[in-house]
Amino acid sequence: MDAQEKIVRAAQLLAGSRRLVVLTGAGVSKESGVPTFRDALDGLWARYDPQQLATPQAFRRNPKLVWDWYEYRRSLVRAAQPNPGHLALAELERLLPFVVIITQNVDDLHQRAGSSDIISLHGAIMRSRCFDNCRGNPTLIDLSALPRAEAHASPPHCPYCGAWVRPDVVWFGESLPEAALRRAMSLAEQADVMLVVGTSGVVQPAASLPFVAKEHGAAVIEVNPSPGGITPIADLWLDGPSGEVLPAVAAAVRALREEASEDER
Ligand code: APR
Repeated sequence: MDAQEKIVRAAQLLAGSRRLVVLTGAGVSKESGVPTFRDALDGLWARYDPQQLATPQAFRRNPKLVWDWYEYRRSLVRAAQPNPGHLALAELERLLPFVVIITQNVDDLHQRAGSSDIISLHGAIMRSRCFDNCRGNPTLIDLSALPRAEAHASPPHCPYCGAWVRPDVVWFGESLPEAALRRAMSLAEQADVMLVVGTSGVVQPAASLPFVAKEHGAAVIEVNPSPGGITPIADLWLDGPSGEVLPAVAAAVRALREEASEDER
């Protein structure tokens, strides 16, 4: 099949879906200018290895360094805009009966694009919490409600117990939020189509979700310019950037749904 035929085939599968589950990774935000963990870091961060910074040990060892790195990444997310790929996924939610997005990303671009049912497996970079979760898991902290000097401390202190405040994200070596993972697994088992966008498919347990969906009979469609851990089980691999491929797929789904509704009249 050539690229156009694959777009049409993907649209046919999606237009007929009753329970579409989408799994996204850092690739879907790449065209918004949000670097992935595996992109070379730029500027003052170039000399650090992200996998060395995004751990509880690194934070305990040097809370200021880790906090400042997240403040820098938050500034990148604030400056970023949802790209046509995020917007196309939000449009699929309007076109189809059931769409849920399970994302490994910690940015808020799916939310800002208009998607409404999002499971954030690795947390949210714009949220902060008490390092000790002193008032339950998670003890979220609103930095804007802290006294000004404290809000700009690196890192701030929990107003309840005085412990460090940390980003509400899952660090390497930490477990994922249980309820989120449980719902994601259950949705993967019930999906009739799973759309996998912009993930290398190497980080567990997120990378197992397409395999669970496939085992339960779902069609798996992958959107990624490069092959990765999911490609071998994909029924359809659309090998291009999601910011270009997803809008084309969404337009084809819209056309099919309009045709179908005219036939019903
Ligand atoms: N459109 C779609 N996919 C793209 C694009 C694009 N324009 N550009 C790159 N990609 C793909 C790459 O081919 C790669 O498969 O995005 C993927 C990015 O892979 P990773 O950087 O490994 O990101 P991800 O799969 O989300 O990583 C999973 O690992 O780094 C940790 O916790 C972090 O959530 C992250 C997890």
